Amino acid sequence: MKKLIFVAFFALLGAALFLEFKRLTIKPWPATHFEEITEHFKYGSIGAEVDGFPYAIWRELPTIFAEDLPRGFAEFGFLTEPGHDLPIGISVRRVGVERVGFNCGTCHVSTYRLEGREGLVLGAPANALDLQAYIAFLTRAARDERLTADAVIEAAEANGRTPGIWQKIVLRFVVFPRLEDQVAGLAKSLAWMDNRAPHGPGRTDAGNFWRERWGLEPAKDTRTGTVDFPSVWNQRIRLDGWFHWDGNNRSLDERNISAALAGGAPEWLLERHAIGRISDWLMNFPAPAYPAEIDAALADQGAAVYAREACGTCHDPGGAMLGQVTSNAALGTDPERTLLFDDRMVRYFERVGEGYSWQFDNYRVTDGYANMPLDGIWMRAPYLHNGAVPTLAALLAPPEARPETFYRGCVDFDPVAVGFTCTGGFAFDTTRIGNGKGGHLYGTALPAAEKPALIEYLKTL
Ligand code: HEC
Ligand code: HEC
Repeated sequence: MKKLIFVAFFALLGAALFLEFKRLTIKPWPATHFEEITEHFKYGSIGAEVDGFPYAIWRELPTIFAEDLPRGFAEFGFLTEPGHDLPIGISVRRVGVERVGFNCGTCHVSTYRLEGREGLVLGAPANALDLQAYIAFLTRAARDERLTADAVIEAAEANGRTPGIWQKIVLRFVVFPRLEDQVAGLAKSLAWMDNRAPHGPGRTDAGNFWRERWGLEPAKDTRTGTVDFPSVWNQRIRLDGWFHWDGNNRSLDERNISAALAGGAPEWLLERHAIGRISDWLMNFPAPAYPAEIDAALADQGAAVYAREACGTCHDPGGAMLGQVTSNAALGTDPERTLLFDDRMVRYFERVGEGYSWQFDNYRVTDGYANMPLDGIWMRAPYLHNGAVPTLAALLAPPEARPETFYRGCVDFDPVAVGFTCTGGFAFDTTRIGNGKGGHLYGTALPAAEKPALIEYLKTL
């Protein structure tokens, strides 16, 4: 027994020292930090760069793969602001060599185009960003014969970034050899995507990355957790309710940390201070006002319809059921996302953060989806948790009249139907598992004349 305690003690000590060593190895290279919180949201670090793609290679990919990426990373929907080299949602940190990672802005910033204007909206679902296609490209590119150390050096020179001799050595003998292993591992861990509908722009799988991490073998089934990115502004009015599409957690801390972990930050390197700052800022960061004219008289009529139909019971601050979960037996939207988060998932979530002060213990199983506020709803299309309904007009139509396929991924805003109406791009197929367009029948049986009024009112929220 004594011997056992002795061994256990040293095992623990070893583990602690190893963690401390890992932290020390990156200590000389602090995460990118911006004083201005909006800059931090868009370009700062949440600690997700550790296993990221090497920056020296990453930034030359649009040159080396010019045929595949005529518009650079914008091809996947990444947004770039004037005066910035990096797209919104990409941070760089040195971890030995510089690596790129995601941050909160990756999935929670978007734009719209309306009447010739384009508007950037922080906190909006990144409706045009196809993360899955981006990751597939990176894994393909890493194994493509066009990607060699010579090609990277040549592209860097052409782009006016001639690497020094030491940088060339590191690139050839450190970065490249490791890249192959890293990418082979990544490709294998994403095999589960092959038996599911593609996410397309604006969505990701909220459950299967976790299942893969926990060894639950998602490649062996078709259970699907694909969700639309949500808006993240105005968090204060959400505090009394349950978070996430299925309302599976009400702890703010766990929600923030799980967001960072899902973005690729390891437990030992969470930038908790930065994440906390962003979380505080999002509390009162307002939803965007509708950017064009609203017909006030029509909106007034719509407000009366909204009140008569009791939409606010579930959707308004102060509404009796705001933040509560509506059982899917009554709601009838696609069940996959809520079914995926079952007892077993909760048990695994409770082990996340083992040994840390923040270890999770607030996850729960629900049988439906959470009633959320509709603030800034005009900018949250496509609608429902799985993004299966392109516009508000389609949401107010009976399910059989909602489009069976539609295009996603553009930012052309349609002020009549309210949503993005794309004439090309990613074809979203509502017949695939997890993509169902059914349910949420509220308002679908209204007289035809009342629907435009209700839509006009929804623009004011
Ligand atoms: C890879 C994309 C991605 C990244 C990166 C990301 N999120 Fe999210 N976020 C999501 C998705 C998807 C959901 C919805 C998950 C669900 O409910 O199934 C979500 C949910 C949320 C919610 C809850 C919204 C609600 O109404 O319940 C908040 C708040 C949030 N994220 C904030 C953040 C913050 C803060 C960060 C940075 C630390 C972050 N997110 C990073 C994709 C992302
Ligand atoms: C019993 C509660 C309840 C009532 C009543 C209700 N809703 Fe909802 N609503 C929900 C839930 C739950 C969702 C999320 C469903 C999902 O994503 O699968 C939702 C989703 C929505 C969305 C899409 C949100 C998004 O971000 O994609 C809109 C818009 C909406 N409701 C409008 C209305 C309107 C308008 C009415 C009244 C005609 C109404 N709702 C009545 C519970 C309700």
